[in-house]
Amino acid sequence: MRVGVLTGGGDCPGLNAVIRAVVRRGVRDYGFEFVGFRDGWRGPLEGDAVPLDIPAVRGILPRGGTILGSSRTNPLERPDGVERVKANIAALGVDAVIAIGGINTLGYARALSDEGVPIVGVPKTIDNDIPGTDYTFGFHTAVDIATGAIDRLHTTAESHKRVLVVEVMGRRAGWIALHAGLAGGANVILVPERPFDLDRVCQWVETRFEATYAPIVCVAEGAVPADPSVIPPLPEGVNTDVPFPGVGEWLSREIEKRTGHESRATVLGHTQRGGTPSPYDRWLATRFGLNAIEAVKNGRFGQAVVLRGARIELEELSVLTGGLKLADPELYEEAEVFFG
Ligand code: F6P
Repeated sequence: MRVGVLTGGGDCPGLNAVIRAVVRRGVRDYGFEFVGFRDGWRGPLEGDAVPLDIPAVRGILPRGGTILGSSRTNPLERPDGVERVKANIAALGVDAVIAIGGINTLGYARALSDEGVPIVGVPKTIDNDIPGTDYTFGFHTAVDIATGAIDRLHTTAESHKRVLVVEVMGRRAGWIALHAGLAGGANVILVPERPFDLDRVCQWVETRFEATYAPIVCVAEGAVPADPSVIPPLPEGVNTDVPFPGVGEWLSREIEKRTGHESRATVLGHTQRGGTPSPYDRWLATRFGLNAIEAVKNGRFGQAVVLRGARIELEELSVLTGGLKLADPELYEEAEVFFG
């Protein structure tokens, strides 16, 4: 059997660990051959693939990014996309595809699977917002990085008696903000799931300022004010994936204006996605990889590996791509205990 592997969407720590596990188990235990499609679904669409063997995956476990490259290419945007993917896969002698990606990449996988392309999915995103799986790899690394940043911001906030706003990733769900905010001792956490009241935020900031002079506000990039009329009109050409691009900077300015306390914003951005995966993410990504190749061997196409408790299971691609996994309300309520 020859298996094609691709990584699509935003990069994420742990992608290489999946590729390594898939190839090692596939070659060692089942005698499979592998090709790596380059740049997500662009590879199968254009027939762009490289050989993948055990020497090619040596040493990549702790490396961030993806040795295969990534893109957000949607093969279904082209009228002949499905036929081209099928033809290129056949020409390369590929019998099955392992697609490692987020909701979009897996959504294309699901559509292609419905058209008869044999695909097994592996969910990835630092945002942890894919339904059907308790966690995705990359998330814990992002939380580590964001928590470390908050730890560092505390000392600057204290030394300068400033409010520090830290904007973390999470355009649709607040998992990173809630985890890193709680772990880092943030005094306010704002998430997309709960539009925020600016007056309330300023009250929490004041309460904290009276106690320590050093409030930290952790805001997810997808958070929005409850009163949408305060959102300034979007400048041309900005990323409209988030409803209020620059929410962290805006919040910092508003807090300073309303409370009179000096405030600064730090946007962590892609630092949360780059670099070496945490041990937990290497572990999860490796287990996802081992189980994905097992699923290919067993012909479980149209399905994806997921984590449930401590077990790796299989779930229909339609479940993973049928909506968003929002952060649990009780996580927010627990975090709120520490606000102000
Ligand atoms: O992978 C998801 C994510 O990290 C989001 O939180 C963020 O909005 C987005 O990717 C940004 O990706 P890019 O800058 O690559 O378009």
